[in-house]
Amino acid sequence: MVKKKTCVFISGQGSNLKNLIYNSRDSNFPIKISLVICNNEKAPGITYAKKYKIPYILVDSKFKNYENKVLLSLKRYKITFICLAGYMKIISSKLIKNYQKKIINIHPSLLPKFKGLNTYSRMLKNNEIEGGCTVHYVNEKLDSGSTIIKKKFFINPSDDEKNLKKKTQILEYRALPEAIIKIFRNV
Ligand code: GRF
Repeated sequence: MVKKKTCVFISGQGSNLKNLIYNSRDSNFPIKISLVICNNEKAPGITYAKKYKIPYILVDSKFKNYENKVLLSLKRYKITFICLAGYMKIISSKLIKNYQKKIINIHPSLLPKFKGLNTYSRMLKNNEIEGGCTVHYVNEKLDSGSTIIKKKFFINPSDDEKNLKKKTQILEYRALPEAIIKIFRNV
């Protein structure tokens, strides 16, 4: 099986990156993590790229044309699939056009509910009954591309933001690999 050369974009903890690295060690898992792009030099997630000897590139997304560097790197590493896993920057339409239907994102809510940031606090404020995560294709509108997989849990009245994050991320570690398997099984 020829694995898809994949780039994971991160900005922070990188626990989803770590989980993908573990999954991709299985010879039947459809992707290989060939590159990590990170826009935060202090992101703890970079340690996983270092530890598992995956090439990584730090970018400064404050610069207007930083994505030119990103695109060049993606070409250089022959990347054919992109996974945004906690990447806290909206990507441009240029990048999206170059990777039509080849970019996915994981979001910590049951989309279309709670697009954008601060999902947990908004969910609590809204007295939501269910939380969850959504893996979706990336298009030009924030958190709005078609859904690949959603997973949900019930919110307890005693749950706080920390709890919600924990419950959500447990589901994310299943949802993202499952979404990737689903995508490549259907090709
Ligand atoms: C995840 O909860 C994801 O849904 C959101 O950012 C978080 C990233 O966590 N987009 P990590 O960096 O993978 O630990």
